[in-house]
Amino acid sequence: MGPGRSARPRGTSLIRHTPVTLCHIDELPDGQSCGFDPHHCGQDSVLVVRRGGQVHVYRNACPHHDTPLAWRKDAYLNAARDRIICFAHGAQFEIETGRCVLGPCLGQCLAALPFFVDEEGKLLLL
Ligand code: FES
Repeated sequence: MGPGRSARPRGTSLIRHTPVTLCHIDELPDGQSCGFDPHHCGQDSVLVVRRGGQVHVYRNACPHHDTPLAWRKDAYLNAARDRIICFAHGAQFEIETGRCVLGPCLGQCLAALPFFVDEEGKLLLL
C-alpha cells in the first residue's frame, strides 16, 4: 500500500460506539434539565433538556472556556426555563439549537450530541 492510502474506504472508522443509556424518557419532566456522566469520568459531561415534547442533548461544555455549564447538579436552565445558561459568565443558549444568544460566546454553539429514544422509551447516547 502506497503512502497516503488506507485499507478502509474514506469516511469509515475502526471505532464503533455502543449506545449508552442515559435514562428513561419518563424520568425527564417537560421543562427540566439533567446532567449525565455516561462515561463515568466523575462529572456530568452531557446535559439533556426536555421541552415541549422535544429532547435536546449537548456536551456539557461552554464554548467560551470549555467549562461545565451548571453551578449545581442539573441546574442548566435560567429562571424562566427557556434558555440554557452558563453560570461562569452568564452566556445564554437557545435550547432548540444550542446557539449562544447572549454573553461572551455570542453566536457560538453548544456541541449537540447524537441520540435516539428506543421503542421502550430509553434515551440512548450514540
Ligand atoms: S465559560 Fe461560559 S460564559 Fe464563560
